[in-house]
Amino acid sequence: MTPSSNYKTAVSTVQEWKIDHWTKSNIEAMIVPKQMSQTILQNQAKSKNDNDKKVRLDYYHSPTQFRFDGWHRLSEYSERLYRRQKRGQNVADVQEKTRYLLSILLTVEEYTAYPSRSVMSMLSEFFEEGNYQALRRCVSNIVWDLSSGNYRNFGIKEINPLESRPEKPNDSGDENRHNHSEKKPYFEVLFVDKNSRTEIDNIKSGFQDITRPEDAFLYNVVAVPSFEDALIAILFNYNIQACVLRYEFPLRSKNHLDILDRYTRTINEVDYDDMPDTGHGPLLGALLAHLRPEIDLYLVTDESVETIAGSTTKVFSRIFYQHDDFLELHLNLLRGIQRRYETPFFNALRNYSQNPTGVFHAMPISRGKSAIKSNWIKDMVSFYGINIFLAETSATSGGLDSLLQPNGPIKLAQKYAARAFGARRTYFVTNGTSTANKIVVQALVKPRDIVLVDRDCHKSHHYGLVLSGAYVSYLDSYPLHSYSMYGAVSLESIKSNLLKYKEAGRLDQVKMLLLTNCTFDGVVYNVQKVMEECLAIKPDLVFLWDEAWFAFAGFTPMYRQRTAMASAKALSRKYRTVEYREAYLAQQQDLGDNPSMELLLATQLLPDPDKVKIRVYATQSTHKSLTSLRQGSMIHVYDQLFKKNAAEPFHEAFMTHTSTSPNYQILASLDLGRRQAELEGYEMVQKQLELAMSIREQVATNPRLSRYFRFLLAEDMIPKEYRASGIDSYFDADTKWMNTRMEVAWETDDFVVDPTRLTLYLGKTGIDGDTFKNEYLMDKYGIQINKTSRNTVLFMTNIGTTRSSVAFLIEVLTKIADELEQEQEQEQEEYSRPERHLHQKRITSLTEDLPPLPDFSSFHRAFRPFWESKSPDGDIRKAYYLAYEESNYHYVEIGDGELEGKIDSGLELVSAGFVIPYPPGFPILVPGQVISSNIITFMRKLDVKEIHGYQPELGLTVFTEQALKTSIAS
Ligand SMILES: Cc1ncc(COP(=O)(O)O)c(C=O)c1O
Repeated sequence: MTPSSNYKTAVSTVQEWKIDHWTKSNIEAMIVPKQMSQTILQNQAKSKNDNDKKVRLDYYHSPTQFRFDGWHRLSEYSERLYRRQKRGQNVADVQEKTRYLLSILLTVEEYTAYPSRSVMSMLSEFFEEGNYQALRRCVSNIVWDLSSGNYRNFGIKEINPLESRPEKPNDSGDENRHNHSEKKPYFEVLFVDKNSRTEIDNIKSGFQDITRPEDAFLYNVVAVPSFEDALIAILFNYNIQACVLRYEFPLRSKNHLDILDRYTRTINEVDYDDMPDTGHGPLLGALLAHLRPEIDLYLVTDESVETIAGSTTKVFSRIFYQHDDFLELHLNLLRGIQRRYETPFFNALRNYSQNPTGVFHAMPISRGKSAIKSNWIKDMVSFYGINIFLAETSATSGGLDSLLQPNGPIKLAQKYAARAFGARRTYFVTNGTSTANKIVVQALVKPRDIVLVDRDCHKSHHYGLVLSGAYVSYLDSYPLHSYSMYGAVSLESIKSNLLKYKEAGRLDQVKMLLLTNCTFDGVVYNVQKVMEECLAIKPDLVFLWDEAWFAFAGFTPMYRQRTAMASAKALSRKYRTVEYREAYLAQQQDLGDNPSMELLLATQLLPDPDKVKIRVYATQSTHKSLTSLRQGSMIHVYDQLFKKNAAEPFHEAFMTHTSTSPNYQILASLDLGRRQAELEGYEMVQKQLELAMSIREQVATNPRLSRYFRFLLAEDMIPKEYRASGIDSYFDADTKWMNTRMEVAWETDDFVVDPTRLTLYLGKTGIDGDTFKNEYLMDKYGIQINKTSRNTVLFMTNIGTTRSSVAFLIEVLTKIADELEQEQEQEQEEYSRPERHLHQKRITSLTEDLPPLPDFSSFHRAFRPFWESKSPDGDIRKAYYLAYEESNYHYVEIGDGELEGKIDSGLELVSAGFVIPYPPGFPILVPGQVISSNIITFMRKLDVKEIHGYQPELGLTVFTEQALKTSIAS
C-alpha cells in the first residue's frame, strides 16, 4: 500500500482508538454538576493545588481535540437515536450517552462563538423533545461547519443550524482549513462581563448594526462571566484575537470540567487570596497580556480612568469610560487586527509585481522574460507559476527597499517582527542562521576578545570565530553516552569558567557567552538563570543564543519564558525594582568581601543593578519552525548598549555577510511568517505540542510499538541534579496523559526537553540510527528525518504537522515493529548459531558497547595566548591559517589501536583542521586542538559514513613539529 492510500485508514484508526476509550465512567467522571453546592465547589477549589486530581479526562492532550472528536461522536449518537427511533427500537442506552456528551459540549461551547448559545439550547431542546431527526441534522451541520471552517464565513451573523450544507467536508480529523481562496479572515472577540448570559445578545446586536461589507475582517463574539472563564477562553479558544473586559466581574468560574480546569490549575489559591475585591479588569488584563501578548485588550470601566491608572493599564490598547460605543469599539477591533495583519514588504512586492515595468537592469529572469521567451525552459514557468517571476527584480526602487540600508517596507517589516518576537530590533537574514551567527559574532567580538562557547554548537559558530579572530574558550556539554549525544552546558561549568578568568585577571577580555537553545535534540536552557548568574560575575557580558530551532517558542507562554528575548525583557524589568535591589544588597552582605570560589559556585548569584547591562542577541532560523522560505532567518536584539556600542559594527558585519542581491521572496516570506505567528502562532504551537504528546502516548501505550521503541524522557536526557522539580517525564505513564506539572519543570529546572522533539530509542531493534533513517523510514515509507545518533532517530513535529501525518507515522512504526517481530521469529526458527550471535552482537553494540563521547581536550600551547595563566582559550584563527601552508601539516593514520598507546606515552599530535562527523554534526577536532587518545578511540568506533575534514585513506591532518615550534616562537 502506498503511504497516501494509508492515510484515511490511519486517521480513522486513531479516531476510533480515541473514541473507544469513551467509557461511560470516564465521561461521568469529567462532569461535576453545575448546581454543585458551595461546599463541593470550595473543596474542589482547594484540590486545585494538588496535582493528582482524581477527576481527569484521559486520552486527550487537548480540549480542542476533545471538542472535535466530541462533535463527531455526538453526530454518531444522534444518527443512531434517529434510526432506532424510526425502527421503534429501544434508545435508552444511546440516550444516556448522548445526554452526557451534550452536557459536556454545552460547557465547552460556552468558550466559543460558534455554535452559539441559542444553537446549543436548540440542540438540548431537540434532544429533550425526542426530535432526533432535527437533532441529527443540526449536529451534522455543526460538524460540517467546524470541520470545513464554514462558520468563519459568517462572522457575527447567526447560521441556520437546520439549513442544508453544500457538501461533506474532507474529514481528515484536523480542523480543515485548506482553503486557498482569499476569504476574509475571521476572529473572535472575548467579552468578560458578569452578565454575559444576558449581555451576549445585546453585544451581538450592537455589532450587527454596524458591521459593513467593506470591513477587512469578520468577527464573532464570545462572552464569559468571570476572571477564570476569561483565562480558560483565551487559552482554549485559538480564534480569540481581542478581549474586552467590562466593569467588575467575579473571580471564579461556575464550570468545573476537568479538561478545561487544567487552564486555571496553574493559579494558586494564594493568588486568589491576595486579589483585591475590585479592580479585576486591570489584573486580568496583565495576566492575559502575559499569556497571549499578541491579543488586543480593551477595558470598559465605570471608574474614573485616573483611579485605575497604573502600570497594569498599559496593557490595554484603549480604555473606554462607561458607555458602550459599539462603532468605536468595532473600529478599534479592526484596526488592532489590521496592525498584525499588515505585511509591508510582502504588499510592496505584490504591488510591484502588478505594475508594468521596463527591465533595464541585470536580471533576465525578472518579469519572467528569459524563461517565457525560451524554447527550452518553458517548464520552469509552468512549474513555478508566473507570479514568482513578476516579483523578481534586482531593483530597490518602485516601492521596494534595500535590505542593506532599509528605509521603507523592509524597515517596517523588521519593526513588526521585533514587536512579534519581543525584541528591541530585528534584522532579516536571507542566508540562514549560519550567516546570522557570523554577523552577530563579527559585530560584537574583536580579535583577541574571549568567547565562551559550547563546543557542540553549529559549525557556523566555529567558522565565525575563526573569522573574527576571537580567543575561543570551549565549554563541554554534559554527555549522554548511552545515546551517543550531548546535552547542554551546566551553569556550574559556565560560572567556574568565568570565575577562573576573574581570578586570572582576564575577565575584561571575556566578551561573549554563546550557547545553543534549544539544542538539536531539544535540550532547553534556563535562559534567565544562566544570564542572571553570568551577569553577576561580568555585568556587561554579551549573550548570543543560537535559537535556530526555537523561533516558534515565542508564541506560547510555557516556551516563551525560555527564549532569549523574553528573558532579556524580564531581567531588565526585574533589575529596576526596589525588591530586587534589596535582595541584591542582602546577598552582598551574606557573601562578604572576599567570597571563595566554592561559595560563589554554590550561591545563586545576583548582578549589581547599578552596573548590569542587558545585551542579548538571538539568531533564529524562521524557516525551520515557522513559515518562511528556506534560508529565511532573523536576528533579534535586546541590547541596552546597542546604539552606543554596537550599531555601527553591526551594520558593517551585516554588510560583510549579506549578499547585495538578497532574495526578495525570502524577505516577503519572513514578513508573512511574522504575520502568521502573531495571528495564529499560539494555536499552531499548541496544536504541535498536543500532537507530539499524542505520538508519545501511542508509542508508550501500544504494546506492539513499545516492544521495540520508546521515546526518550526528560530523565533520559537530563541528569537528576538539573531537574529540581523532580519531574522525570512530561508524559504521565499512569494516566497516559500529559504531565500537568510539565509547566513546573519549565519554570524551575536548569534544563528541560522540548516535548515537540521526539527522540526514538532504537537499541532494542538492532538497527542503527542511520540505517533506520535511510532504509526503513525513507526508502520504504517516504518519511524524512534529519538527525540520528548511533541508537536514536529524532522526529521533529512542526506547526504544519497534522493528525493525519501523526497517524501515518504511528502506522509506519507499527509496520516496522511487526516486520522486526517476524524477523525475530524467523531468526529463532532458521538462523544458525553464528547468525544469531551476530544479531545479538549488533544489539549489544547499540545498547552497551557505545564509544564514550570525548570532551574537548585543549588547545596546544602554540595557540594558547595565555598559556602561562593556564587560561584555556585558544587562537583558533592562527591555527586555521597555519594550515594554509601545505608544508606545515602531514597526515597520520588512525590505525588499529597503537596510536592511542603512543599518545598516552607522550606523542603530541595537534589537529590542523576541523573534523566533523555527521551525525552528530559538531567538530570533535578543531584547528589547534591537541588530539587525545579518547578522540582517536571515538573516531575508530564511529560507524557514520560522513566525516567532514577526514579522509580515511590519508588520515588526520596534524601540524608538523616544526610548524608548532615556529608558532610558539612567534
Ligand atoms: C544550532 C544551529 N544553528 C544554526 C544552524 C544553521 O541554520 P541555517 O540552516 O538556517 O543556516 C543550524 C542548522 O541546522 C543549527 O542546528
